[in-house]
Formats: sequence, structure tokens, C-alpha cells
Amino acid sequence: MSETTLDVRHLPKPEAYAALSASLDAVLEGIDDEIAVMATISCTLHHGFGHLWSGFYRAVTPTLLRVGPYQGTLGCLEIAFGRGVCGTAAKERRTVVVPDVEEFPGHIACDGRSRSEIVVPVLGANGEVRAVLDLDSEKLGTFDEVDARALEQLVARLLGVTRRG
Ligand code: SME
Repeated sequence: MSETTLDVRHLPKPEAYAALSASLDAVLEGIDDEIAVMATISCTLHHGFGHLWSGFYRAVTPTLLRVGPYQGTLGCLEIAFGRGVCGTAAKERRTVVVPDVEEFPGHIACDGRSRSEIVVPVLGANGEVRAVLDLDSEKLGTFDEVDARALEQLVARLLGVTRRG
């Protein structure tokens, strides 16, 4: 098991995600507990990239997200499907990349320093939204399609769900 949290900010994104993914595999070996997995993914991504906020919102009803394991400043407690970036990703069951939060109507500013964001849905075996992974950055344009695909694969693999088609 890895004893330290990796810092991958010096690496190109594909290598960074590969390193974090390998670290997560080692740390989570034998663990089959959703909250433990979410907490460990949040910690690993947060410290790996130095983001402003990194964590999960869980779908507690078919139309409501509630905050789950995360790292960063205080997050909003609940977000309705359809609201903000998280609620949009949940409602539309797709990854949403926001290069500039001021350009996203209805963005919810839990921390005023947030400038860009990505939200990736965690889907169940029947395509239902079980949670979303939300990463916020203090810099504009932090996230792109490389992040989207890498994060989709990461949560699908580690949270044991089917990828969206
Ligand atoms: N910005 C998000 C809300 C969650 S937090 O920033 C932690 C949104 O618009 O959904």
C-alpha cells in the first residue's frame, strides 16, 4: 500500500491519471465499501492535482443530490437535479466540463474562488445516477476531454458500475 499521497502536477494529464489510478488500485485493494472508495478517490485527486474542491454528491432520491465524501472548503449540502453544474450532470447523465463558471448559467458558487469545474456522473447498472464526482479549480480552463474520459473510467472502474454508452 502506498504510504504517501502523490503529487502529479508535474506530469502530463495521461501520465498523471495513470499514476493516480495505480495508486488508488493499491490503496483500495480488497476494499468494497462505497464511502471508503469515494473518500479515497477524493483525497487522491485533491492532493494529486491541488484542486480547490474534490468530492462526491450522492443521489439520495431520484431528484436530489446530497454531499458525500470530499476535500476542500465547505460544500453545499444539497443540490436538486437540474440545478448548477452538479445537478445538470445528474439530470442529463453526462459529464459536464465548464471552462469558465461565469459562463455557466445557474452555476452554484459554494466557494467564490472557483473558476472552472468538471462534474462526472457515477452510473449504476441500470443507467441510474448514483452520485456525481465534482472537481473545482481556482484557474480558468483547468478541465478538458482528457479529464472527462479519465475520470469517467476511474469512477466506473472503482465504484463498480457500468459506463454510460
Ligand atoms: N459548483 C457546483 C456546486 C458544488 S460545489 O462547488 C462544491 C455546481 O454548480 O453544481
